[in-house]
Amino acid sequence: MKILVVGEIHPEALALLEEKAELIKVSDEEFTSADKYDVEAIVLRTYTVLQKEQLAKLPHLKYVISCSVGFDNINMDALNERSIEFIRVSGTNSNSVAEHTMFLLLSLLRQDPRKPPLELKGKTVGIVGLGHIGKVVATKLQGFDSKIIAFDVIEQDPKLLKELKVEMKPFDKVVSESDIITVHVPLNEHTKHLINNDAFTKMKQNIFLINTSRVEVVDETALIQNQQKLRGIALDVFSDQLKSQLTTYHILTNHQGAQGENSLRNMCVKPVEVFLQKL
Ligand SMILES: NC(=O)c1ccc[n+]([C@@H]2O[C@H](COP(=O)([O-])OP(=O)(O)OC[C@H]3O[C@@H](n4cnc5c(N)ncnc54)[C@H](O)[C@@H]3O)[C@@H](O)[C@H]2O)c1
Repeated sequence: MKILVVGEIHPEALALLEEKAELIKVSDEEFTSADKYDVEAIVLRTYTVLQKEQLAKLPHLKYVISCSVGFDNINMDALNERSIEFIRVSGTNSNSVAEHTMFLLLSLLRQDPRKPPLELKGKTVGIVGLGHIGKVVATKLQGFDSKIIAFDVIEQDPKLLKELKVEMKPFDKVVSESDIITVHVPLNEHTKHLINNDAFTKMKQNIFLINTSRVEVVDETALIQNQQKLRGIALDVFSDQLKSQLTTYHILTNHQGAQGENSLRNMCVKPVEVFLQKL
């Protein structure tokens, strides 16, 4: 079998694949400019776009193996139309993103040189999207004596909520009651601009906002318009244009959330293992 490997894939995952298949390794730029690849599988990360145009270059494709958790880079309808199997393993980078969120959260509270440091104790933390990452964030928050509220579109296990001391609330309540909001939803047509002008209007004055999900989940135009309302903003995902327009205290990290060493490995090795079991 021939497999196309696009971008930087963890060496352990590459070694596993090399035992079973012939690998064609290309950069994202090479993939974008190429005409066609005669491969049955593609291994990629979140930075590789796989829409109809790119899929047309892969006429014999049977498997897409994703070394990331988010899959907004991939046209799932187009995969389904061609019965291409999609393999990803949820939760493989949750710890790294949750630790990164805690780093951003505590830094926001403490590092603004113009303001006295704040304590997390007694603050209300609102988690938007209580999935794999949101739940690990709630776990990490245990012991800080903060109040944790959350919103999700999926009903949550009451036992787990009790263990994590998380109270589920409607979106508007989470937005209006939180001192710190951290966003952990996937990007799709429902979550695009979830944090929009309406949400900013409902937020308290001097709140903190953290986004480690995807750029488009926060309406950046609304963020700029409302930034005087926020005491601090931490973004792991943001557009190039945003940077120069931020005047509120901010921390920007360049999609570093999942870069922790264990996550970086697991994000690739786990789906590759799932794929190899199918051969
Ligand atoms: N910064 C990074 O490096 C990095 C790394 C991994 C993942 N991510 C992003 O984080 C997202 C979340 O990852 P995850 O592993 O927790 O995914 P997940 O699928 O386990 O959890 C997402 C949660 O969001 C909920 N949700 C969906 N639509 C919602 C809505 N409209 N309102 C509220 N909740 C909604 C889902 O029900 C689910 O519980 C990924 O989709 C990806 O975009 C970023």
